[in-house]
Amino acid sequence: MSDFCSSKPYSNRYTVTEAATSPSFDDHEQVSFIEDTHSGLRAFIAIHNTRLGAAVGGCRLFPYASKEEALEDVLRLSRGMTYKSALAGLPMGGGKAVIMGDPRKVKSPELWQAMAEFINEHQGRYVTAEDSGTCVEDMRLMASKSEHVLGLEEGGAFGGDPSPLTAKGVLIAMQAAARHRFKSEHLSGLHVAIQGIGSVGFSLCEQLLEAGAKVSVADTNAARLRQAQALGAQELEISEIHRAQADIFAPCAMGAVLNDVTIPELAAPVIVGAANNQLASAYHARVLKTRGVTYAPDFVVNSGGIIDVYRQFKNASVDECYTRINAIDALLTDVLDISEQQNLDTARVAEAIAEQRFKDPDPSNRAQPQGSDHNSGNTAASIAA
Ligand code: NAI
Repeated sequence: MSDFCSSKPYSNRYTVTEAATSPSFDDHEQVSFIEDTHSGLRAFIAIHNTRLGAAVGGCRLFPYASKEEALEDVLRLSRGMTYKSALAGLPMGGGKAVIMGDPRKVKSPELWQAMAEFINEHQGRYVTAEDSGTCVEDMRLMASKSEHVLGLEEGGAFGGDPSPLTAKGVLIAMQAAARHRFKSEHLSGLHVAIQGIGSVGFSLCEQLLEAGAKVSVADTNAARLRQAQALGAQELEISEIHRAQADIFAPCAMGAVLNDVTIPELAAPVIVGAANNQLASAYHARVLKTRGVTYAPDFVVNSGGIIDVYRQFKNASVDECYTRINAIDALLTDVLDISEQQNLDTARVAEAIAEQRFKDPDPSNRAQPQGSDHNSGNTAASIAA
């Protein structure tokens, strides 16, 4: 059921009825837009689903070419947060904010104050955090006017950067995928090709080398490449990494890398990586399945970032974060087994599991660490039904 914001006494604030006709609209609970002439703020907040808890998702600042482009992005990203949090077993819903503008030009105290007031109008149903284009300092400026802001830690439990936790989750997912595909979860001796050795990819590279895997890497950053080579990784050309004769391809750079051009060129039988939105379109998951590729959906394996946000939101312990990260093993194992048994692509299976969680009104399903209800056979039975 949709519930669009009604107009409020705010400069140029209006109802966003056009959201419902957007291709990415998916029964979002609330979508609102603000255009504030005083601060220059032009922003959307989209709340996709709050069945499991407040809609939590980052605030992105990006120079969108049009309002339509910003709307598409906020709708798609907020929906993705619902699925990712539900799969991670978190008592949180999905939401997102996007601000239209160039991060190098538009930031000002007035902008963050106006954004904080906009967030406050949602009365805690939307909780924000850092995202691309925003930083800890921006969150602090908003937090002085709003209690619905996370990401204020400079050091934090993970040094202010959840990337090693995310990389750990990807490594655990690789072990589960290797067990499923190669009948051994030992990564020692396997060849992994990592596309992008930034915060997550580099930590993954370190952890894989420690586990005895052979690692190939590609990145546009020469300094990073030198660091990875010093650890024992082998460098490949950017254009070659997805074609590498590896056992596992790990996209850890940008989205839409699994597309009509790259999929026929893939040599690795398994794909497990951190990058968000790896599939160019939903149907590419089906194409991968048809070609016999074992694909671990990104929103199943890259939950480290949202788990860290949850830790800050609910004051959860680091131990609980690791329990949730370890549970990726059972979750992905279920996804891969069901995909095989029911001839469904893995992304569809993962979505169905998430939907069971956030659409199920039974409160006992809430806040359960993921994996606790896995391997019971119930998930497979109800997806089949
Ligand atoms: P990052 O920005 O630190 O690293 C990305 C790396 O990819 C950079 O080193 C960049 O030079 C490289 N790169 C860019 N274009 C490339 C290309 N064409 N070929 C090869 N390398 C290229 O980002 P980070 O934090 O490591 O995240 C990586 C991916 O994982 C992103 O898609 C991000 O959204 C996703 N993710 C990250 C999480 C985290 O905890 N940092 C959590 C969940 C998802």
